[in-house]
Amino acid sequence: MGATRSKKSDTRADFVVVANRLPVDKEVLADGSVRWKRSPGGLVTALEPILRSRTGAWVGWSGQPDVVEHPEVEGLQLFSVPLSAQEIAEYYEGFSNATLWPLYHDVIVKPEYHRDWWNSYVAINRRFAEAASEAAAEGAVVWIQDYQLQLVPKMLRMLRPDLRIGFFLHIPFPPVELFMQMPWRTEIIEGLLGADLIGFHLPGGAQNFLYLARRLAGQATSKGQVGVRSKFGVVQVGFRTVRVGAFPISIDSGELDSRAKSKEVRKRAAEIRQELGNPKKILLGVDRLDYTKGIDVRLQALAELLEEGRVNPDDITMVQLATPSRERVDSYIKMRGDIEQLVGNINGNFSQVGHPVVQYLHRPVPRDDLIAFFVAADVMLVTPLRDGMNLVAKEYVACRSDLGGALVLSEFTGAAAELRQAFQANPYDTDGVKLAITDALEQDPEEGKRRMRALRRQVLTHDVQRWAKSFLGALGADAETIPSQNRGLDLV
Ligand code: ADP
Ligand code: F6P
Repeated sequence: MGATRSKKSDTRADFVVVANRLPVDKEVLADGSVRWKRSPGGLVTALEPILRSRTGAWVGWSGQPDVVEHPEVEGLQLFSVPLSAQEIAEYYEGFSNATLWPLYHDVIVKPEYHRDWWNSYVAINRRFAEAASEAAAEGAVVWIQDYQLQLVPKMLRMLRPDLRIGFFLHIPFPPVELFMQMPWRTEIIEGLLGADLIGFHLPGGAQNFLYLARRLAGQATSKGQVGVRSKFGVVQVGFRTVRVGAFPISIDSGELDSRAKSKEVRKRAAEIRQELGNPKKILLGVDRLDYTKGIDVRLQALAELLEEGRVNPDDITMVQLATPSRERVDSYIKMRGDIEQLVGNINGNFSQVGHPVVQYLHRPVPRDDLIAFFVAADVMLVTPLRDGMNLVAKEYVACRSDLGGALVLSEFTGAAAELRQAFQANPYDTDGVKLAITDALEQDPEEGKRRMRALRRQVLTHDVQRWAKSFLGALGADAETIPSQNRGLDLV
């Protein structure tokens, strides 16, 4: 990784992924040299192996202002979409992450609605549509990703009616009562309806969308009424048919399973336990530092368990790995302070010299180290207040071929629908979270193996290749071929 080319190649691709971020992020080091490193987040984790397994192009932003060069990464054809510093502030930090992100995550923080952010979102979506149009060959399949690019399907269709266009939302799609707050709600629904197939993680998101499509998109226009009807996961927009379904995303489970079994990872896992002072139990959290992830929920629960003497601080170490995220957005700045204060309080009250109860790393860790942490952890804490899927929960399970460990999982993640044998809890119910943690810490080993075996069966058979095949199969096929469980609710 590291080389760049300044001109796009002439070859156009038959398969194009369009996402806000490229799979690699540009980093300028202190000495001025440049490094391209893996981008944060679950979208890249899921899509990178898909793009490697089929030839295609990836259109996205480099993570830095004004980057026009296209990074060279072996096996991938990447096209940078440049953003200026002001566009990053308005389109990415503003409309994407201070308007849409909180609105789509149950308004955990208050969404901000600003007209200049919206104008920037429209302009940047147009830029992505133009870049996708340039990258795509005649009749190509273009797969647009996530909430940052909801207007691209319609814009791209207008530029290139020959393309087959799919859209997948990686975060929850909100209930109608919340979505109706959005001043530009009709434009967003109409933007999405430019796709041939729209995918959500869960049937609930598909149902919310179908309802809103009927309610918002079929309104009278100056040219008369555009008929929008929805039925069995199908929206009829004038003469066009748009299909809507649930496609729960996953991970490259086989690859993780085999890496977790390797000698090096096993050795590193043993070292980690040693370095932590051989505690009886290791608890682990792995997240982007985001207020949706409920890092505070698990810290608060642990603090109370320690105060009540239900957990002995000498027996445990909690490791919290937190990747920095959206660091200039106000709500993220505040949340980081709150979490670091909670960590400080727990350590101040319960640690011994040389043995902090909570070990907190505010940085991404290399992939093999992360896998070793999963292998070492006795209890994995996944406690989001809302999460579209949560790949970390699936990664933990994929790494536990030894059938050890226990997963504490929030009911409000998409993963909870599949990972039934986890210790599930409502993250708003602190007593319930505490109980799930103590149950996980004290589980009978045989019962633990039974649970982990069942979790692994689900994760290993439902991997990301299956997800992509199912979405792309539906995108290339007739309406009749969407499996019935993928359909949204019949709303007609
Ligand atoms: P999101 O997409 O909201 O960030 P997911 O749980 O779906 O959440 O995906 C997060 C991805 O980022 C996972 O692949 C996870 O392993 C990775 N990740 C999260 N935190 C870290 C970290 N501290 N170091 C390395 N990778 C991380
Ligand atoms: O799906 C969640 C998601 O927002 C992705 O779209 C994104 O790539 C990832 O999390 C990381 O967030 P960001 O790109 O804002 O750092």
